[in-house]
Amino acid sequence: MTHNLTFPQDFLWGAATASYQIEGAWNEDGKGESIWDRFSHTPGKVFNGDTGDVACDHYHRWPEDIALMKSLGLHAYRFSIAWPRIFPAGRDAVNPAGLDFYNRLVDGLLEAGITPFVTLYHWDLPQALQDEGGWPARSTAEAYVEYADTVSRALGDRVKNWITFNEPWVSAFIGYGDGRHAPGHTDLHEALATAHHLMLAHGWAVSQIRANCPDGQVGITLNLSPHMPASPGTADRAAARFADGHNNRWFLDPLHGRGYPCDMVDAFGDAMDFVQPEDLDTISVPVDFLGVNYYTRGIARAAIDESENVPRTVFRGGEITEMDWEVYPAGLYDLLGRLHFDYRIPAIYITENGAAFKDVVSPDGTVDDPQRLSYIKRHLAAAHRAIAAGVPLKGYFVWSLMDNFEWDKGYSKRFGIVYVDYQTQQRILKSSGKWYRQVIQENTVL
Ligand code: FCB
Repeated sequence: MTHNLTFPQDFLWGAATASYQIEGAWNEDGKGESIWDRFSHTPGKVFNGDTGDVACDHYHRWPEDIALMKSLGLHAYRFSIAWPRIFPAGRDAVNPAGLDFYNRLVDGLLEAGITPFVTLYHWDLPQALQDEGGWPARSTAEAYVEYADTVSRALGDRVKNWITFNEPWVSAFIGYGDGRHAPGHTDLHEALATAHHLMLAHGWAVSQIRANCPDGQVGITLNLSPHMPASPGTADRAAARFADGHNNRWFLDPLHGRGYPCDMVDAFGDAMDFVQPEDLDTISVPVDFLGVNYYTRGIARAAIDESENVPRTVFRGGEITEMDWEVYPAGLYDLLGRLHFDYRIPAIYITENGAAFKDVVSPDGTVDDPQRLSYIKRHLAAAHRAIAAGVPLKGYFVWSLMDNFEWDKGYSKRFGIVYVDYQTQQRILKSSGKWYRQVIQENTVL
């Protein structure tokens, strides 16, 4: 890169985490069990038998973590609230100690001059609600609204940026469809009902949060990727269209008043009897911003024979991360352009972007991670290009502030710009973190 890329003056530089991935304290101060507690405590579900019981111990170390964020110069911090800390049984009785924790965290962030971005749901559903049917049941969406109401009432005087859900696609299709995530079900009908109820809960909650926080900004975060055909052939192009429908349009279209995409309704072939009149109006309530989580693109090819009943996503080679995800910064530019020109989204934040690579602590105690630095740098260059093309991109949150529990991969994948030694809970700023600190300081990618 030969030119310095300076960002708009009010561009927000942030970092993101999620409750189950960093907090630990899984059963402290009255917290209820979540589906991720249950899942990770079930043998065989998570790599190496890892759990989030302790994780980064952020529940106890948050003052130190805020100091770290301050030293990085972060403008904003995106974190999620653990629903079972607030409602141990999912609904009805509030646990004041749970609210206190987030009250302290928010106050600490504001004192440090850091703007909180709160995600209300990053996958840790109270197990009690799962026992009543989980997201495939409409009553869970109703319980979510009570929860969103309670939290936005308690924090809305200080928290002005709200994200209703993180990646409904993952909750629905990985949690209830292919079973790799909690609660580990494998049922397409459940997955589709889940997707619908997450979106419905989102629509209901937007109005509720606005009522409690009239000067707030409310949005939702989706995991989006461009999907490209493995070859120019008709069948592969159709496979790419399917992948795009599944991953992107299934959520973007109803959110923008277009209903569920017909090609995908046909392809799924489900009765979709969970959709009630007016649900789609609720879901398409205008939001203030869209959160975009971008990691990689998809390359699709058609099913080879009838034993494969859906098209496949393949990977052709090139530069990959520890997650086996291709490094493809141009996809971020393409995606942002499409969101702007096709969906006319008023404001966009990149709410996650980052990479897992093997990190090694050198004998001198430092962690040098040039690959992660380069990944972030090239994605920021793509983001900068998108802004120049007119995309209303308002900020960037690196995933993640620190290494953490990477869901079914346990602690085997490190995404942090801060290294965490899980034995001692020592935090070490990686070279990518030092570089990011300078980017923030100069508002420029050098
Ligand atoms: C996203 C999740 C986040 C993290 C990254 C790597 O899908 O939202 O929690 O696990 O992937």
